Amino acid sequence: MEIRFRDTNIAAITTDLLVIPVREKKLDEAAIRALDRRLKGQLARRIEKSQFTGAEGSSLLYATAGLLPAAQILLVGLGGEAEIASDTWRKAAARARKEAAAGGAAEMAFFFAPGKEADSVAATIVEGVLLASYQFNKYRSNSKAPAELKALTLFAPGLKRSAKLGRRAEDAQTIASAVFLARDLINEPPSVTTARFLGEQAERHCRGRGLSVEVWGKRKIEAMKLAGLLAVNRGSHEEPRFIAIHYKPAGKAKKKVALIGKGITFDSGGLSLKPAKSMETMKLDMAGGAAVIAAMSCLPKLGLNVEVTGYIPTTDNLPGHNAQKPGDVIRYLNGKTIEVLNTDAEGRLILADALALAARRKPDYMINLATLTGACMIALGSQVAGIFSNRQPLAEELIRCGQEAGEKLWQLPLVKEYKEHIKSGVADMKNIGGAHGGAITAALILQEFVENIPWAHLDIAGPAFSESDSALCPKGGSGFGVRTLLKFLSAL
Ligand code: BES
Ligand code: MN
Ligand code: ZN
Repeated sequence: MEIRFRDTNIAAITTDLLVIPVREKKLDEAAIRALDRRLKGQLARRIEKSQFTGAEGSSLLYATAGLLPAAQILLVGLGGEAEIASDTWRKAAARARKEAAAGGAAEMAFFFAPGKEADSVAATIVEGVLLASYQFNKYRSNSKAPAELKALTLFAPGLKRSAKLGRRAEDAQTIASAVFLARDLINEPPSVTTARFLGEQAERHCRGRGLSVEVWGKRKIEAMKLAGLLAVNRGSHEEPRFIAIHYKPAGKAKKKVALIGKGITFDSGGLSLKPAKSMETMKLDMAGGAAVIAAMSCLPKLGLNVEVTGYIPTTDNLPGHNAQKPGDVIRYLNGKTIEVLNTDAEGRLILADALALAARRKPDYMINLATLTGACMIALGSQVAGIFSNRQPLAEELIRCGQEAGEKLWQLPLVKEYKEHIKSGVADMKNIGGAHGGAITAALILQEFVENIPWAHLDIAGPAFSESDSALCPKGGSGFGVRTLLKFLSAL
């Protein structure tokens, strides 16, 4: 999609779809009045007859019947809040994209007069338009190619195209492609997205200046004593992989960050087998790993000045003749031991290896993303990820980045007292807690492996996969986390 910026009057723009964002009950704004003069007052009459007030989420489509160079006008409501949230812009842009697709528009022009923070708002609009374009139709025999949007024009009288504005719009395209990569990896069937496939995809997509990829096979994983990954892999016919992606910027990096993503390519539960219904979406269980691969893949293009290493331990979790058994004990490379009482609590087992390994290099921050617990989903629902951290400022910064990125994070506590629940009769800890607070006990287990390095754990079990179509994402993998990570890294 081509992005243009133009200094043009609202009544003069030639386009298939002219999009005008409007604040609630501000339908008499100068721009609309100027336009309506050309339409002989018909737009005002049409608005009056309709339910449209400019409320957030509402829109009104109007055909100009040759009275303007724009074929159709779409008013999109921004609501009445004093400050327009970034997600409001993103969703308004997504709605416009949907309308363009429905009407077969090849070109869309967005009236762009945000007032404050024009660069950010422009980037957000581009992002919204692109995210709403995503489809995964590879396995449909009757899919029609979606109407392609060839160009998006942001325009306003007096609009100046600054270098920064152009760059931010370009970055938004890069970021949207990364989100699409994560969505694709999650949406692929689990017998396609194996650990080996994930390794190959990391090699294929993580290229460019300063970026390198290492994919360890079973031998190397054994040599490196990644006992948790090997234990979970025992039931499987597929070999595990451990993916390490490294980004070193051209200049001197100010900070060193480790990103760790859970890469369970299918979670059957292992011998502690899940019921059929719970397994239906368990191809999503590598969404954390997909987010890390995707975020890493665009670091060279974004040119960020941070050193980042991504770690993705990956395998499926299946029952098999050699599968790990409830009662088995894993000894980790930092000396700690975990008694496995439920093989379905496997995410923490493979993340423990990766966190211990990452901690050895003493990064400034460690951030892990994992579809870790059903309990977190019960607590926060399907649109909000839980965040746990051993440093309050880090948690707050990530929550802020999530807010800007349109990814909701809500902090949950690391309750020391609950360590009681993960005490084991034979080992340092067991891999499950009591009946309640499951998201917290899982996080407490991870914390045992981070050596007091500033760390945050994002439990993305809910938002990793959207259960139904929404403005910014069709049903399926969402790519949750990619945008928050990139915001965080950019702000360092
Ligand atoms: N991958 C699941 C968590 C999950 C559940 C993700 C639903 C997305 C949607 C994880 O490996 C798991 O099975 N967790 C168990 C832990 C329990 C056995 C302590 C759970 O949440 O039930
Ligand atoms: Mn599980
Ligand atoms: Zn899992």
